[in-house]
Amino acid sequence: MAAPANFVDDKSRLAKTDAQLLQSIADGIEAKGMPAFGASLSLAQRRAGLAYLRATFGEKPGNAGPK
Ligand code: HEM
Repeated sequence: MAAPANFVDDKSRLAKTDAQLLQSIADGIEAKGMPAFGASLSLAQRRAGLAYLRATFGEKPGNAGPK
């Protein structure tokens, strides 16, 4: 199985918009092994996960807002 996203060494993913990353979190990236969290986590929980990633590994677009 592919390794989880490495947000420390590869900042390119964090350059994506919040909407794009929330989409990935909700739908997963099946081909790469990222599970979909759209059914198991509420939108608020998915946003909290993304907020954690942004706060820990880097801010970028931060175009938050309801999706
Ligand atoms: C069992 C738990 C998880 C596994 C195994 C996993 C695995 C992965 C993998 C394999 C990728 C793709 C890496 C690549 O592109 O090379 C990925 C991307 C990502 N993961 Fe996870 N992940 C997990 C949980 C989470 C959680 C809880 C969050 C946030 C709440 C999260 C957020 C992301 C984001 C934002 C990306 C980048 C998506 C993009 O590039 O569009 N992941 N993960």
